[in-house]
Amino acid sequence: MSKLITVNMNRKPIYDIMIESDFAALPEKMKSLGYEKIKIAIVSDTLVAPIYAEQISELLRPLCSDIFVHAFPAGESHKNMDTVQEILKDFVEHHMNRHDLVVALGGGVVGDVAGFCASVYMRGIDVIQIPTTLLAQVDSSIGGKTGVDFLAYKNMVGAFKMPKLVYINTKTLDTLDERQYYAGMAEVLKYGLIMDASFYEWIISKMYEIHDKDAATIEEMVEHCCICKQRIVERDPLENGDRALLNLGHTIGHAIEKSKDFTLLHGECVALGIVAAAYISWKREKLSKDEYYEIRDMFVPFNLPISIDDIDDEEILRLTKSDKKADGGQIRFILLKKVGKAFIDKTLTDEEILNGIKEIHFVEDGE
Ligand code: GLY
Repeated sequence: MSKLITVNMNRKPIYDIMIESDFAALPEKMKSLGYEKIKIAIVSDTLVAPIYAEQISELLRPLCSDIFVHAFPAGESHKNMDTVQEILKDFVEHHMNRHDLVVALGGGVVGDVAGFCASVYMRGIDVIQIPTTLLAQVDSSIGGKTGVDFLAYKNMVGAFKMPKLVYINTKTLDTLDERQYYAGMAEVLKYGLIMDASFYEWIISKMYEIHDKDAATIEEMVEHCCICKQRIVERDPLENGDRALLNLGHTIGHAIEKSKDFTLLHGECVALGIVAAAYISWKREKLSKDEYYEIRDMFVPFNLPISIDDIDDEEILRLTKSDKKADGGQIRFILLKKVGKAFIDKTLTDEEILNGIKEIHFVEDGE
């Protein structure tokens, strides 16, 4: 079942999000966007390229004069300027010019890195996003955020680069490893928590279908998340306001990701960060105690962590404060008023944040 969502800005259509169950409709769509006789760089990683790059190359070859694949080593630790430099070198060696196209084929890291390369190469060339992980399909491929980690900071160097198309083939989730799949569920649950209580209930009611990767359920879930994301980025494309709500769980989450040297997945850290944020919301008397425990425990059936051992609370606090979401030294923290309603808070004290971190820090009895 094909679905099409158009992302508008200033009431003008900017790009489509297509939700499909294969790649068949991709060439025709690209033709309709005017891509013919161009060079195409498929930027991917060493996990995704062996599965899908050949198939995509064959489909797109009739549209282009040259097509090549650049696959960089998979993983968040490669989301850096060295990788960007290698990709840009490849673009130069293939004589790509301003009319040529980058196709980002992979998960969140690939989308961010490839999008960033497209944003700076020759002052900007087009990019199409083909997200292959749940996290990228429901969140990171939409809205134009691109970038890399730099020095000690996550996503410190980047650009807003709107894609020309987001093409989602939900069948790619069949080849996704289980841990990655459930990590994406943290971002799915996040939409329910920040803006849509009935969607949150729906996710819980579909728990078994989600486990079984039931095709119709996945399509409906991905579509709903894309619509949530579309609404937010249309209202606030450059994150001057409400778009920051999408960062629920990300401030403490990023700090854990960093302190654990990326051994935990982004979505897993976001789940932990949301638990801490929900705890702080309870302590601020925004959520009731029951609401806090319900939100926390609802990550468990989706195989997401709600506590973590072996962290240094003070280090997490320090990393949290050095996150780029800090604004003039004050952290822009996302808290919950209730399921379906989030808000931005800039008044949290170190002690309140530290208590949130302690809440998710699992300590064995006797330690
Ligand atoms: N992933 C958060 C955003 O796009 O703003």
